[in-house]
Amino acid sequence: MKIALIPGDGIGPDIIEEAVKVINAVGEKKQISFEFITYLAGGAAIDQTGIPLPEATLEGCKKSDAVLLGAVGGPQWDTLPGHLRPERGLLGLRKGMELFANLRPALLFPQLKAASTLKEEVIGDGIDIMVVRELTGGIYFGDRGRNEEGTRSAYDMETYSEPEIDRITRIGFEIAKKRKKKLTSIDKANILETSRLWREVAERVAKEYPEVELHHMYVDNCAMQLIRNPHQFDVMVTSNMFGDILSDEASMLTGSLGMLPSASLGSGKLGMYEPIHGSAPDIAGQDIANPIAAILSAAMMFRYSFEMEAEAVMIEEAVARVLEAGYRTKDIMEKDMKLVGTKEMGSLIAEEIKKM
Ligand code: IPM
Ligand code: MG
Repeated sequence: MKIALIPGDGIGPDIIEEAVKVINAVGEKKQISFEFITYLAGGAAIDQTGIPLPEATLEGCKKSDAVLLGAVGGPQWDTLPGHLRPERGLLGLRKGMELFANLRPALLFPQLKAASTLKEEVIGDGIDIMVVRELTGGIYFGDRGRNEEGTRSAYDMETYSEPEIDRITRIGFEIAKKRKKKLTSIDKANILETSRLWREVAERVAKEYPEVELHHMYVDNCAMQLIRNPHQFDVMVTSNMFGDILSDEASMLTGSLGMLPSASLGSGKLGMYEPIHGSAPDIAGQDIANPIAAILSAAMMFRYSFEMEAEAVMIEEAVARVLEAGYRTKDIMEKDMKLVGTKEMGSLIAEEIKKM
């Protein structure tokens, strides 16, 4: 298995190192060998090559079996023009590898119930929502620009084609079929034409999944319902922009941004896996960052790109056991728990795998 590593910026390198530790522990246990190749993207690439996504990175990633990314961005690159910002590196990777489906599970570990900002009665017996976000279309990739003459103005265009909506809603149905058979499609069909087409296509695709219950919800209502009663959701499917916003909201219901992984998939096996948190430059290189989101992203890599479900579960189980044993990084620290750094957290999880 050839794994492309993009540590990126800020805490990216800290957490990727721990994910590699855990992947190697799985490899040792299961006699699988991995080839890791490190590439540049984001601010690190800007500093070394002048651009956020060198061609060698995209080419290398396309030739890999999977890509594991840390995080990109930081204040020192914030004043660069839009097309040279670190974020462009990430968007270029998604688009360049045609990773149109972004899976963002918001899962509350029972050990971390107290971390959620929601009241206990709202959380109930936990939170487990899968946000399926369209990732290579919509306003993120539409025509944009400015008119500088007269009164200045700017525009960003949202476009969705029928095939783009078809393939992402299909992923939503496929996942819903394997879970609670309930899919909520989020849009703004009372206003946006793209959303009206989205609904039509979702309804058509739904006919092929009679076992899945399809609901539609406006995005503003969804933002409210997520906090009021998160249990009404199981799988959500939505556009690039709405998915960006709602996945942040859903993740915070679990109270631990540092815990949540994501997978970006296309039509083949190649995928890119990354934590949903950012680069947290303020704590970079200090052995403080929580590596669990990166480690759980590696678990998703085993599940979706390698189709090795047992290995994915092994990693997830090891994380649960280490939490159960009371180990916490600073971001999820609670009274009477054992505070550990980035490296120790990674080692504990790797050790747990070796014990299995
Ligand atoms: C995310 C991030 C990115 C996005 C940025 C960094 C480009 O917010 O992955 O959610 O907006 O997609
Ligand atoms: Mg985001």
